[in-house]
Amino acid sequence: MNDENQGTMARKPPVFDIYDYVTRLEEQVRLLHTEKNLIVSKNSQMEIEFQKMRKELDEMRKPPLIVGTAQEVNLEEKTAIIKNTNGLEFLVEFEKEHLDLIKAGSRVAMTQRSLKVVRVLNDIKDPRARAMEVIERPETNFSFIGGLKKETRELEEAVILPLLSPEKFEKLGIEAPSGVLLHGETGTGKTLLAKAIANKTNSTFIKITASELVRKYIGEGAELVRDVFKLAEEKKPSIIFIDELDAIGTIRSDETSGGDREVQRTLMQLLSEMDGFKKRKNIAIIGATNRIDVIDPALLRPGRFDRMVEIPLPDLNEREEIFAIHSGSMPLDDVNLRILAEKTDGASGAEIKAICMEAGMLALREDADFITQNDFLKAIDKVLGQEEEKSEEKMFS
Ligand SMILES: Nc1ncnc2c1ncn2[C@@H]1O[C@H](COP(=O)(O)OP(=O)(O)OP(=O)(O)O)[C@@H](O)[C@H]1O
Ligand SMILES: [Mg+2]
Repeated sequence: MNDENQGTMARKPPVFDIYDYVTRLEEQVRLLHTEKNLIVSKNSQMEIEFQKMRKELDEMRKPPLIVGTAQEVNLEEKTAIIKNTNGLEFLVEFEKEHLDLIKAGSRVAMTQRSLKVVRVLNDIKDPRARAMEVIERPETNFSFIGGLKKETRELEEAVILPLLSPEKFEKLGIEAPSGVLLHGETGTGKTLLAKAIANKTNSTFIKITASELVRKYIGEGAELVRDVFKLAEEKKPSIIFIDELDAIGTIRSDETSGGDREVQRTLMQLLSEMDGFKKRKNIAIIGATNRIDVIDPALLRPGRFDRMVEIPLPDLNEREEIFAIHSGSMPLDDVNLRILAEKTDGASGAEIKAICMEAGMLALREDADFITQNDFLKAIDKVLGQEEEKSEEKMFS
């Protein structure tokens, strides 16, 4: 037995065997290590995926939050009395992070089960504010306006003076006009004028578009009108600019349809705000329309839009001025603005602006450094030509 063993040992030296064995084992260990690393990284990937899914699932399982309005807030105790939409009141706790945000009147979102405040919502005014354009002090000033000198003087007296020095009117015992209605064709500078007045008087410019009030914010028109006057009071001195006034102030026709009732309600609210408006100082109200022919006379009574200013299309000199304003910052090459003005009889300020922009675009397409008379002539053809096409289409349709 021993002999046999010794014999085998002699044939296969054990030293060599072990080396081989160990090397193979080491190789295996390395392989397993790599495999393990792979699995670990795969695992952490799966873990991330899992967490993501779980979060999504949690989101989906979450019950919707309850919205309420804070009635009273106790900052020390971090509690608030919240009234929900059903009129029930709850005493709830809120987190430190909401300390600065929550005040009486804030809208808050609470969890259903524990009624814990988890979010303080934006002011209720915000969604409505979408319907208004509010500019603290517009940058548009009178130097941006070509022509309209006589109209500007009229507005000076009807809007600017009463806004800036109401006491002068009081002293002389005369009443300043309540509202001024600007009327004229589209693109003649009505909005521009209203903004320039706000700039000159350092006023907040609050613009609403009557057609949007009744079409986009159905059911809210009257309330929006109230909001606008409230905001104007808060931001005095201010100018309320009601664009497309004809949309709510048209002579009444048929009052039965729902749409008309909405228009009526909005108009009534406007009239009542204007009637109660005389006492308010430092707020001016300017309306604009291109359909003066259909405006309801109720709107034009004394105490309402009792001053009308027509904003006409520019004459030859005025067109030249408007060309100068809108091409003022363009590098021109020997351009004769007088000729351009002569060739644009009947064009509005907005069209002249469009011509200047089009001329600039033509030069840009040709990669030119300057804008030439020819660019302007082509632009006139394009801009005013389109207009002709449009009116022809209208005639035939
Ligand atoms: N007299 C003008 N001087 C300089 N630019 C003008 C003049 N009139 C109009 N424009 C230009 O045309 C643009 C449109 O004018 P604006 O919006 O004031 O017209 P509008 O009379 O209010 O028109 P709409 O009735 O369509 O509301 C302005 O932004 C301005 O650049
Ligand atoms: Mg306008």
